[in-house]
Amino acid sequence: MALMNATTLTAVGISGSPSARSKSRTLLERALGALADRGVASVLIDLAALPADALLGRRRSPDLDDALATVSDATIVVASTPVYRATYSGLLKVFFDLLPPSGLVDKTAIAIATGGSPAHELVIDYGLRPLFASVGAITTPTGIYGIDSAFQNGVPNQSLIDRIHVAASEAITLGTRIHSAAVVPSPTLVES
Ligand SMILES: Cc1cc2nc3c(=O)[nH]c(=O)nc-3n(C[C@H](O)[C@H](O)[C@H](O)COP(=O)(O)O)c2cc1C
Repeated sequence: MALMNATTLTAVGISGSPSARSKSRTLLERALGALADRGVASVLIDLAALPADALLGRRRSPDLDDALATVSDATIVVASTPVYRATYSGLLKVFFDLLPPSGLVDKTAIAIATGGSPAHELVIDYGLRPLFASVGAITTPTGIYGIDSAFQNGVPNQSLIDRIHVAASEAITLGTRIHSAAVVPSPTLVES
């Protein structure tokens, strides 16, 4: 009977910032690093590097198809975004619009956002959690929201780093349980 552990989980990071020096991407990279520390390999997808007309659904693109396949293959999905107009970026939105309705079922998700103001911290709970839920993902209890002043010379403060490690641990616990439950027959099925 195959049971999944941290070494059989895989992660994909999705960066939804168009910025070359992105704070949200920095947190994403830290989160993938925290998962790697726990034995989970990952791939990072930079949505800004994908062709815009393909992201808008106007044409197919091998790079975009590869990105969607990478997400489909992963067991943990980490998405990061800047807050734009009080919610996640349009870049992240158009990518999620291309996922099938059940595209993230049985996957665990970590939500990351950065904003200029603490006033939009609830983008995690009212923006990203519903976005993940709309395609079937289960989001970790801990989300990560950083304000611009929490970075010094591009380095996030310790509080953000601590939250990233908590979220990474939660994602592995959830991912392991989801995939163990998927492969272990229930007692009812065994008895009948
Ligand atoms: C077009 C635009 C809209 C923004 N809207 C908000 C906003 O509504 N609330 C907020 O807190 N920050 C807002 N910001 C600030 C960014 O969210 C913030 O600087 C963020 O950390 C940038 O992330 P990045 O470096 O990953 O791109 C906005 C920035 C831009 C460029």
